[in-house]
Amino acid sequence: MENNLRALELLKEIYNVDQLLSGKEYIKELVHRIAQILKVKYVMVGHALETNPDKNQDKIQTDYLLSDGKFIDNVVYDLHDTPCVNVICGTRVNCYANDVQNLFPYDQLLKDLNVDSYIGAPFLHSDGGLIGLLVIMDDKPMEDRELYTSVVEFFAARIGTEYRRQAVEDSLRRINENLEKLAQERTLELQRAFESLQQTQKQLLSQEKLATIGRITFGIAHELKNPLNIIINSAQLLEEEDLDPDSSKKAADMIYQHGQRANTIITNMLRQARQETALEPEWIDISEMLDHVLDVYVRSLTDMDLKGHLVVKKNIDPRVYAYVFDPPSIERVLINIIDNSLYALGEKYRNNKETFTPTIQVDLKAGPSLFKVTVRDNGTGIPQKHLSNVCDEFYTTKPAGEGTGLGLWIAKQNVEKNRGEIHIESEENKFTQVTIELPGEQRLQEAQL
Ligand SMILES: Nc1ncnc2c1ncn2[C@@H]1O[C@H](COP(=O)(O)OP(=O)(O)OP(=O)(O)O)[C@@H](O)[C@H]1O
Ligand SMILES: [Mg+2]
Repeated sequence: MENNLRALELLKEIYNVDQLLSGKEYIKELVHRIAQILKVKYVMVGHALETNPDKNQDKIQTDYLLSDGKFIDNVVYDLHDTPCVNVICGTRVNCYANDVQNLFPYDQLLKDLNVDSYIGAPFLHSDGGLIGLLVIMDDKPMEDRELYTSVVEFFAARIGTEYRRQAVEDSLRRINENLEKLAQERTLELQRAFESLQQTQKQLLSQEKLATIGRITFGIAHELKNPLNIIINSAQLLEEEDLDPDSSKKAADMIYQHGQRANTIITNMLRQARQETALEPEWIDISEMLDHVLDVYVRSLTDMDLKGHLVVKKNIDPRVYAYVFDPPSIERVLINIIDNSLYALGEKYRNNKETFTPTIQVDLKAGPSLFKVTVRDNGTGIPQKHLSNVCDEFYTTKPAGEGTGLGLWIAKQNVEKNRGEIHIESEENKFTQVTIELPGEQRLQEAQL
C-alpha cells in the first residue's frame, strides 16, 4: 500500500516537472525527485562513450550524478567488472538488491560510495543502439525490488526521449548555424560581385563618355570643315589686288553666309546634344534648299580644273515641300552627299583628264506623300564589298586629314530622324547613286502655301 502511494506520488511529481521544464533542467529535476521520493543516496544518468573502433561502448560519461541530494562532479568510468556492463548489454533493468560490492569486487566506485544495492536501466536509440543509462544506488538493501524496477524502467525510457529530443535540437541548431554561415558567406560573395560590377560599370561609363566626346569632336570637325573651307577661299580671293568690285562683293557675301552657316551648325549640334528635338514637324521648301546647296558647293569648288569641266545636270521639281522635324539636319544630308560626289569626281578626273567627263546629276521628284532626291555621279564608285559599310561611323577610304568617315553616317541618322530612308547604289569606276526619300508634297498652287 505504502509503495503504491509512493509510486503515485512519484508519477504526480514527474507530471508536474514535465509541465514546467524541458531539456537538461528537466532531467536534473527528475533525478532530484527520484532520489527524494525513493529515498536513495545516489542517482546517476550518463551516456555511453564510443571509444573503440568496433563500436563497443566500454565507458560511461556521467551527465548527472546526484549524491546525498547534491549534484557532484561528473566522471568517466570504465564499465569492466561493474554492474553497469550488464545494463548496457541487455535492454532491460538489471537489479542487485543487496551486497553488490561482493558481486563486483573490482568496482572501485561501488567501494568508494559504499554501495549496497544497485539498479540500472539503459535508454536506447529508436534503432536499438545504446544512448546511455539511468542508475540508482543506495548504501542499504533495496526494499521493494518491484517498485524500483518499474520506476527505473519507466524513467530510463522517459530520459531517453529527452536525450533524443536534445540530439535532434542540437543537430537542428547546427544546421541552422551552418545555414546562417552559408547565407552570410553568400551575402558577402554577392556583395563583392556587386561591388566589382559597379566598378566595371564605372569604367565602362567613363570609356563610353570618352568615346562620345571623341565622336562629338569628330562630328563638329566634319560639319564645320565645309563652311570653313569656303570662308578661307573667299578670304583669299578678297586679298587679290586686282579683284573687281562685283567679285569682292560675292566673296564677302560667301564669307557672311558661310560664317552664318557655321554658327547654325554649332547651334544645332548643341541642340542635338541636349536632345532637343522638335515635337511637331514643319514644312520646308526642299526644292529651293537642294538648288541652293548644289549651287554653293559647285561654285565653291577649289579644284579649278574639275570646276571647269564639271557637268551639272539638274532635274528638280519646283515647290516641293518636305515635312520634317529638323530642317537644318536635312541641309547637312544634302551637303554630305554632294560633297562625296564632288570628291569622287575629282579623284577620277585627276587620272583620266582626256577621256572622262565628270558629271553630277541631281534629281528631285515629288510623289503623293513622299519625295525622292537622287544624287548620281560617274566618279570612282564604291566596290561592291564595301557598299554595306559606307554608312558606318568612321568608315572612310580617304587619306588621313581629308575624311572623317562621318558624312554618310550623319546623313543616315538625320534622314531616319526625319522619318525617311536612304539607299546607296554603286558600281566601281562607273557610278554612285544616293537616294533619299522623305515625307513631303508638291504645292503648285499659290493658294496652298
Ligand atoms: N559618291 C561617292 N563615290 C565614291 N565613294 C563614295 C561616295 N560616297 C561615299 N563614298 C565612300 O564612302 C566612304 C564614306 O563616306 P563618308 O561621307 O561617310 O565619309 P568620308 O567622305 O570618307 O569622310 P567625310 O565625309 O567625313 O569627309 C568614303 O570614304 C568613300 O569611300
Ligand atoms: Mg563624306
